[in-house]
Amino acid sequence: MVAPLRVGIAGLGTVGAEVVRTIEQQGRVLSARCGRGVRVVVVTARSKAKKRGVDLRGITWAKNALAIATDPNVDCFVELMGGAGDPALSAIEAALKSGKSVVTANKALIARHGLRLAKIAEKHGGPLNYEAAVGAAIPVVKTLREGLAGTDIDRVYGILNGTCNYILTRMEQEGLSFAECLKDAQRLGYAEANPSFDVDGHDTAQKLAILASLAFGTKVAQSAVYVEGISSIAPEDLRAAAELGYRVKLLGVAVRTKTGIEQRVHPTMVPRSSSIAQVMGVTNAVTIDGQGISPITLVGPGAGGAATASAVIADIADVARGIQVKPFGRPAARLRATRKAPMERHEGGYYIRLMARDLTGTAATIATRLAERKISIESIVQRHPDRSSDGGRANGKSSPVPVILITYATNEDAMRSALQAVQRDKVISGRPQVIRIEKN
Ligand code: HSE
Repeated sequence: MVAPLRVGIAGLGTVGAEVVRTIEQQGRVLSARCGRGVRVVVVTARSKAKKRGVDLRGITWAKNALAIATDPNVDCFVELMGGAGDPALSAIEAALKSGKSVVTANKALIARHGLRLAKIAEKHGGPLNYEAAVGAAIPVVKTLREGLAGTDIDRVYGILNGTCNYILTRMEQEGLSFAECLKDAQRLGYAEANPSFDVDGHDTAQKLAILASLAFGTKVAQSAVYVEGISSIAPEDLRAAAELGYRVKLLGVAVRTKTGIEQRVHPTMVPRSSSIAQVMGVTNAVTIDGQGISPITLVGPGAGGAATASAVIADIADVARGIQVKPFGRPAARLRATRKAPMERHEGGYYIRLMARDLTGTAATIATRLAERKISIESIVQRHPDRSSDGGRANGKSSPVPVILITYATNEDAMRSALQAVQRDKVISGRPQVIRIEKN
């Protein structure tokens, strides 16, 4: 009979507590699936006294993560503390060096130190599993690393942050403010400890960098990701998107191009009829496009205790079963440097919202600046000034008028230079709002 897998967990927040609870409640089913027992033998967290709603009797309390990582009575070290550096980093390193298996949900750490940790794991022979780092319950790491090991991948993209999708969904459907929706996402345990990681796009960038490495066999390169968050998205953009047949989503996109691998995170207008536009609330979706496969899309809960715990336990189950794959699907020494495609060369359509001065010739000036750079306009809508007033004309001044443009495909460089020219012409006030369009 095989001895039970002895698990030590560092970090008992929303996810850690859920992992302990699930192993307690479903231990027999899990053992049957793995062909051996899985037992949590030691835990640690910042506060021992905190009420977590889990039964910790019979489980040793360690003084810190490092103590678990070096404990000879632990086979599998599970890191659920978070943070891109110490104490998580040192503890994982120590666990790998002592030949333990490691499971982590820490995307920040894998995005920054994944390559180094993969080399240590390979040298000492223990697996390093991190399914929960991307898309919570969605088994996308396993899909890329194992299920698609025989496929050349051209593009991987999707909605990778539950908090942002939850906020955009509620803002659109219920007309709520950004701040109200963010507060609810925090209350529900979706958001990061510092929610600016979510709303400024960095959480998505970390996940995308990991997926790109798995998809293209490149070294994880978070610094190669172009990042924009959702905090500039205004209710009028969501309304305009709906009127024009689009919906706004924060997408992460990694794609092979002629100039290298383009990795970008930004709010994106997607056609309302597309499948990605139907993904609402905290749900994530990842689409993988490759040679010989029509796109494969995985959809599921992308944040929250139970969803993340599901992936952590699946990784523990792999350890218990003795399944081991190289952390990035191939030997770390064979991962290539990322050739970064410059964002200025990005090609696609754009949504542009300008506050145009209500003066004769403004529309013509804007159209000229775009035409000079060979940018064709698919549609242009000029909103009427507020009809409940005189638009400010009574005092001789007119208020700026929102103008919304949709362009045909162009490149980022041309679009930015056209908007700079329009600003220099002083026919608009404030900064233009620009949202990239992704048609398929
Ligand atoms: N804050 C993350 C999200 C948690 O909202 O998607 C899951 O990684």
